[in-house]
Order: sequence, then structure tokens, then C-alpha cells
Amino acid sequence: QDELSYVKDETAIPSLLKKAKDDKIETVWDRALAMQPQCGFGEMGVCCTNCSMGPCRIVKISPDGPKKGICGATEDTIASRNFARSVAAGSAAHSDHGRDIAEALHYAAEQKRPIKDEKKLRALAEEWGIQTEGRSVEDLASKVAEKALNEFGKPFGHLQFVERAPQKRKEIWESMDVTPRAIDRDIVEVLHSTHMGCDADYRNIITAAVRAALSDGWGGSMIGTELSDILFGTPVPHEVEANLGVLKKDCVNIVVHGHEPTLSEALVLAVNDPDLIEAAKQEGAQGINLVGMCCTGNEVAMRHGIPMAGNFFQQELAVVTGVVEAMVVDVQCIMPSLPQVAKCYHTKLITTSRKAKIPGAVHMEFDEKNSVECARKIVLEAVMNFKNRTDNVLVPEEKVTGRIGYSVESIIRALDGITNTFAHQSGTVKPLVDAVKSGVLRGVAAIVGCNNHRVPADQSHVLLAKELIKNDVLVVTTGCGAHACIKAGLMSEDAVKLCGKGLATCCELLKVPPVLHMGSCVDISRILQLLAIISKYMNVDIKDLPVAAAAPEWMSEKALSIGTYAVASGIYVVLGVTPQITGSENLTKYLTSDMENIYGGRFEIESDPIKAAHKILDHIEVKRKQLDI
Ligand code: SF4
Ligand code: FE2
Repeated sequence: QDELSYVKDETAIPSLLKKAKDDKIETVWDRALAMQPQCGFGEMGVCCTNCSMGPCRIVKISPDGPKKGICGATEDTIASRNFARSVAAGSAAHSDHGRDIAEALHYAAEQKRPIKDEKKLRALAEEWGIQTEGRSVEDLASKVAEKALNEFGKPFGHLQFVERAPQKRKEIWESMDVTPRAIDRDIVEVLHSTHMGCDADYRNIITAAVRAALSDGWGGSMIGTELSDILFGTPVPHEVEANLGVLKKDCVNIVVHGHEPTLSEALVLAVNDPDLIEAAKQEGAQGINLVGMCCTGNEVAMRHGIPMAGNFFQQELAVVTGVVEAMVVDVQCIMPSLPQVAKCYHTKLITTSRKAKIPGAVHMEFDEKNSVECARKIVLEAVMNFKNRTDNVLVPEEKVTGRIGYSVESIIRALDGITNTFAHQSGTVKPLVDAVKSGVLRGVAAIVGCNNHRVPADQSHVLLAKELIKNDVLVVTTGCGAHACIKAGLMSEDAVKLCGKGLATCCELLKVPPVLHMGSCVDISRILQLLAIISKYMNVDIKDLPVAAAAPEWMSEKALSIGTYAVASGIYVVLGVTPQITGSENLTKYLTSDMENIYGGRFEIESDPIKAAHKILDHIEVKRKQLDI
């Protein structure tokens, strides 16, 4: 089947997929094929299992089929409830990650462990109205962590990061009563209102979903990013290697996979422990090679230059190489199939979170209070597994180098490289705004999100990015999209050759690649922050900016939460995979059209990446005209 095929280029997938077939390993592509045809009711979002009178489904194709659930729920109610619940789950995943980071900061302060970015800590404390004078780093970190933890369940007021949004945006949220209040509360309210026999108005259901999504973007995710930077360091630009070719035949290979940086940061320390390196040598290895996968991979690559082994669709294939001694996972985007694959090689799949155990895996629970010791035990487990490796190995050749580490702070610093020549205006986005205003740069687009079997792996990310940079649009990226772009060479110096003249000039001046890696999925909050700074600088709302976002290969509920908070923040969001909403024409119209009149942003569904690029370009030109630039 063509639509289930994969690209034969920079993904390192074809050679390993062939090995998987030879080794009789089932992969995500086999399961996707076996799943065809997929359930039409589910695909359209009109299957309801919210109570035990059901399951109910709305039959669209025949006039005689049921048009209402047993309780009377219409297709609009059912599809919007399903959508809202997905958004709530996505917001919960990001926000619970943020909560874990806040807890980690709390324990680090308590145990007087290093806090890497004191400047950022003090700035955030001041932003949140915490007295900073005369306070020790630990004391401040403890106060900031406590304040962050309170954001989840405070009974009154709204989230503190809302204040970062431009005034006009805050007014729109106020007028729609979607200003996020407390993260847990906003998520719970979606679950409550979508319970059987509660909210039946699809517009009101989406309004609750918007509030929960904003609690993610301007709440849980932003807490995750900001506190990770404070605790582990704010990323700065540097070179990193990427793709499965970063695995080393002669080393103990440990793949850290999942999302939260707490575990991976401890692993980075442990793999540099001389005793453990010596132990690896005793076992006949040259050393220990730690590499990252998915967003945990992005986190450690951004802060430590740990190689980026691959994204979502490469996780099974990493094990198929036969050289992975341990794959260490925490939460989110971890395929439950992994123990099955690992069983056919010597790889140990190690789960570490009480929130994510997988039958067939070894569970070694990670304890934040005792992080270094936990990480040491995990690394030792991998080292001792080196001797079990067989000859059935294949490390693909594909490996590239790219420049990453573009936090908002790094971007502003890069811009300062230009501003400083005109003196006294450093620390602003002025050069970026000037480039956009002059038309040298047409605008900025974010490419984010996952892999999905409905799209050849990485292809839409890459084609979309190439078309945008060719047309002088600067691309920022996170998550699996960032992995796709670096693998395709779009974060290298050479990528400038693929740019339009204007963007190429900007990149050369700023010494940045045309596709900027801004981090993990929670770090999309960095993009919100950048847009807020630009909006305030230009004295306009986010919806007025010549910017757009795309999730060309999205699959997770987190992506729906991201898409929803982006739309509600005034951004035009192109989805490359159709969400499960089409069974309700009203809901589809609401998300892809009506929302623009309310929030200034809307969803667009476009599976062709080149067409998507041109829709984004058209959108950018409309915004430019409205701004009269
Ligand atoms: Fe059916 Fe209504 Fe129950 Fe859903 S809530 S399963 S539509 S009866
Ligand atoms: Fe992610």
C-alpha cells in the first residue's frame, strides 16, 4: 500500500525495516496495515462510549441508521465531547510533566543540588512577585517551585503566565471566559462537562476544551519549560549529531526515550561516572554511549549535545539494530510493542515511571529524591548486558550534524549580534521585526508534532519545511518535527542553499540555520513566549502577526491540546492528518472557520505538505497586508 510506505532517503528507516522483516519483527507499519480498513465511526468521531447504555454510534452513510445516541446525544455532542476529552488528556500529559519538573526543583532546593540558571530563576521569581532580595538560590527555587505547584489547584484567580500574553489577547480570553484558572481544575471541568448527560452544546464543549488547552500552553507546558531551564540550564546553540547512525557498535548503547528531562539529566551524570565507564571497559566495550529519542532526546540534545537517535517511528528500529543494551523510558509516546521487539534481541527495556509500566519490561522506578543513585543502577544494568549482544547487528550509516539550542534567550542573543552594532538596543527582537517589516523575511512558521502511519515517516515535516524556507519563511520546530528536520540536514550550514535570498541573508548574518530547533513538545511554550514578545514589541496581537503553525504528521492527544491552545492564541494551524471530527459538520466548521472570528486563529486540514506550505504563505501575506508591511 502506497500510503503506508516510507521515504527512501534520510530517515535510516528502509535498511532497518528490511532487517526487521528478516528478523521477523513486527513494526508499527505492519500493525497499521493489519488494521485496515480502520473504523469509520471512530475516524469521524461519532462513536460514543461515555456510558454503559452505549456504545452508540451515529450512522452517516445510510438514512435509516441511528442519528442520535440512546441518551439523545447528537453527532455534534458526541464528536465535540470526544475531541474535548482528547484535548484534556493532552493538556494533562503536558501539565503533569510540568508538575514533575516543579517537584524536581523543590527537591533540588531542599537537597541543595545545583540550580543551573540562577538568572532565570531570579527573573521568574520577580515576575511572580516573589521577594528576591537577600534570598539564597535554594530559598528562591523552593518558593518558585511552590508557586508553580499552586498553579495546578489554586482556588481563585488565573494562571500567572497569562500575564505574558499581549493585552488584546487577554481581553479576547476574558470575553470568552476561557482565561485559564488552575490547571487541574480546567482539565477536570472538561471531564465533568463531557460526562453523560451534562454539556450537550458543541460550542460550549469546545470552549471548555480551549480553557483546558490554554492551561497547557500558558500553564503546564510553560512551567515545564521555564523550570527545566532554571534547574538544568537554558539551552544555548551548539552542534549535535542525529539519526540512528549515532549508535556505536563498540560501546554500551543506552537510548533514553520519553519526555521528562529529570531522568535523562541524571543519566547524563551517570554515564560520565568513571567507575561505570571502567565497568563498561571491563565488559569489553570502549565506553558508554548515551543517545536520546523523541522529546527526552530533544531535552538532552538541547542542553548537553547528547546525540539525537531518532523520533517516534524510529523507536522500534533502534532496538532492531541489535546494539542497544538498554532503552530507558519514562512517559509518553512509548510504544507498548517495545518489550516484544526487545525480546528478540538482548535489549533491556527499562520502564522508570509509576505512570507508565509495560508488561514485559524491567521496571526500575526513578525516584527524584535519589535521582543519581537510580540512574547509576540503570546504567550498570545496561553495562552488564553488553556481553549478551549477538552478531546480528546493523548500525545504519545515516548520521548528520546540525546546530540546535534555540531557546528564546539564544534567539535574542543571536539577534543582538546585529543590534549591538547600532548600540544601546540589545536584548530585543528588533532585528527580527525589522527583517519581517522590510519583507526580507516574509514571516515565521512553526512545524511541530509527531509521526503517523498515514504519512510517510518525516516526509511531510521535511517537504513543508523546505517549501517554507525556499519562500523566505523562517521555520521554528520542536518535538518529532525537529528530529525530522535535523535528519534532513535542515539545521546545517548547507541548508542555507535551500533558502530564498532573503532568509539566506538573514541566516548568514545571524549565523543560524533556517530551521531553528526550539526543544521538546512542552517547549512550544517557548514559541508562545517568542510570539508574545514580538507582539508586544510591535504593539499588536498575536493574531495580527505574519506567522502560522503546522502539525503535518501529528497523532497524539497532546498535539490536539497544542493545536487548540495555538488556535486560541490567535494562530493559524494546519493539520496534516484529519482529526476525528468530520462526523459533525457543525464541529468541523467551528474548528476550521468559526473560531477565527472569535480567537483570530483556526484549524486548517491539509494533508499535502506543499499545498499546506502555500496555504501558510497565503496566510502570511494576508497578515502582512493587514499590517501594511
Ligand atoms: Fe450512547 Fe449517550 Fe451513553 Fe454516549 S452517553 S454511550 S451517546 S447513551
Ligand atoms: Fe514530544
